[in-house]
Amino acid sequence: MCGIVGYTGARQASEVILDALEHLEYRGYDSSGIAIHEADGIHVEKARGRLQVLRERTDNGAKLPGNVGIGHTRWATHGEPSDRNAHPHASAGSRVVIVHNGIIENYLPLQEFLAAQGYTFHSQTDSEVVANLIDYHYHGDPVEAVRAALVQIKGSYALGVLFTDHPDLIVAARKNSPLVIGLGEGENYIASDIPAFLKYTRRIVRLRELDVAVVRANGLEIYDPFGNPVPYTEEHVEWDVSAAEKGGYEHFMLKEIYEQPRAIRDTISPRVVEGKIELGLQSLDEARIRSLKQIYITACGSSYHVGMVGRVFMERLLHIPVRVELASEFRYENPLVDADTLVLVISQSGETADTLAALREAKRLGAYTIGIVNVVGSAIATEADEVLYTWAGPEIAVATTKAYNTQLSVLYLMTMSLARMLGRMEDTTYAEYLQQLAQLPDLCEKLLQDTSHIQYLASLCFAKDDIFFIGRNLDYALALEGSLKLKEISYIHSESYAAGELKHGTISLIQPGSLVIALCTQKRLLERMISDIRTVKARGAMVIALAEENTPFIQDVADHVITLPAHADFVAPSLSVIPLQLFAYYVAALKGCDIDKPRNLAKSVTVE
Ligand code: M6R
Repeated sequence: MCGIVGYTGARQASEVILDALEHLEYRGYDSSGIAIHEADGIHVEKARGRLQVLRERTDNGAKLPGNVGIGHTRWATHGEPSDRNAHPHASAGSRVVIVHNGIIENYLPLQEFLAAQGYTFHSQTDSEVVANLIDYHYHGDPVEAVRAALVQIKGSYALGVLFTDHPDLIVAARKNSPLVIGLGEGENYIASDIPAFLKYTRRIVRLRELDVAVVRANGLEIYDPFGNPVPYTEEHVEWDVSAAEKGGYEHFMLKEIYEQPRAIRDTISPRVVEGKIELGLQSLDEARIRSLKQIYITACGSSYHVGMVGRVFMERLLHIPVRVELASEFRYENPLVDADTLVLVISQSGETADTLAALREAKRLGAYTIGIVNVVGSAIATEADEVLYTWAGPEIAVATTKAYNTQLSVLYLMTMSLARMLGRMEDTTYAEYLQQLAQLPDLCEKLLQDTSHIQYLASLCFAKDDIFFIGRNLDYALALEGSLKLKEISYIHSESYAAGELKHGTISLIQPGSLVIALCTQKRLLERMISDIRTVKARGAMVIALAEENTPFIQDVADHVITLPAHADFVAPSLSVIPLQLFAYYVAALKGCDIDKPRNLAKSVTVE
């Protein structure tokens, strides 16, 4: 999400920067901008929309002839996509100009602090505080100013900073957001990703977390967080551009699967402030929550599966009836929705036509609506009464992975927050759940460390014609998602069943050699699932079970077991979907499918 570039050298910086930004387009963006040192100060141009608009505004860069500058493609998070919110952002007085990628979690208190010092703000972004904070700390030394500002910032950032007083340099810094430096002959670069400058140089330096770099045409200095100069190591890039744009992964889907720990962290951590969930929903107060008679969740595809998981949690913790409806069916159901109904609308793209239509219908019926959306400023985000964004970043592969998991994270937070307001969650349980949520990204990372067993299982299964997924309760929702993921990218026919339904018809499909993936992530249902596994095995099925490590008996009944690291029940759905995503991915890869763009499917389904 967002792309940063910077150039200093003998060429016209704007031309290099516009070209470099084009190589970062794959990251997704809705606006762009550029800032160049000119003889009379730093000039900034910004534009909503495609890079072409910025090209037109700057006459392909010709209007900005300077040799030092920074550029940005923005994926809106705080504030709608607009010229005003696009980067670069200048400090009040324009001594400092910045581009930023990441999320400044404490931007509101910082903004308050800076406003009290007389600073003014012109955008709705979290990033603008960075320009003003650096300006506040600036007394002639750029590195000191950036270091001092970073000490006060909570969150993630990759930064490129220009100082009017220092027209020969760019200051760069990063924390939990990528930034690389490119070394040329008499010219140097910064960028969020290597392909931005790969055409100009293959010599790179990876900036370490929290270090601050000073990049000049003829030199690079790097300082640690204490201001001490540190040595750096130069690397040579061997990849070609197309591989690098996927960060070295063969497909966007795999890259996005691996981004899940980061995406979950970004979605959860800014919303937990001093041990308390803060959703920032202005109109969802205690009176409204107490008046709720029911909750509806509506969505399509994987987002609908998230809703199914959400329903179980919400009913358990809130004791309010929750219905989950496919958005494509919602309108035809004559839904019993009124002013005492909360309708949650879940969508990665925020543009799915059926989901948007369901939202409009819910509003027409007088319901209070909340969108859980990934794309900022999208139709659903704009039209819902309130929106909770999932900070997954742009998802490019058609098969959703990281967006799914961040939607779940938002539902957990929302459920806990409502349960708390209704007085239905004890302090200790609340604190315990928050702790489990905080540990979730690390557990996902652990799971992703070794995928060799899943790859092996995919090699045993990729030639199958049919694959069945079975599970109960939350694992039934998981079965639907695992099966959808597999069929959409591998084109293998797949069915998902509530395991208890086997005996009501499905069992007739099971024959020697059938592959059944049995989801056994809920301890309280283990005995039942073991008996379901025995039932299909008795008909000759091969069974792969998914269960937490050290689950009793499972190794004895299943042919193969995919194990999950030990975890609390609460977070099981977020963790257990990952092996199913990987299984689908490796099966499709072995079949040579077009994984990121499966046939007949679109990322945003904008037709009903
Ligand atoms: O953008 P949305 O979340 O509204 O999209 C809904 C579905 O189209 C989407 O989840 C689809 O099922 C995915 N391709 C599944 O991987």
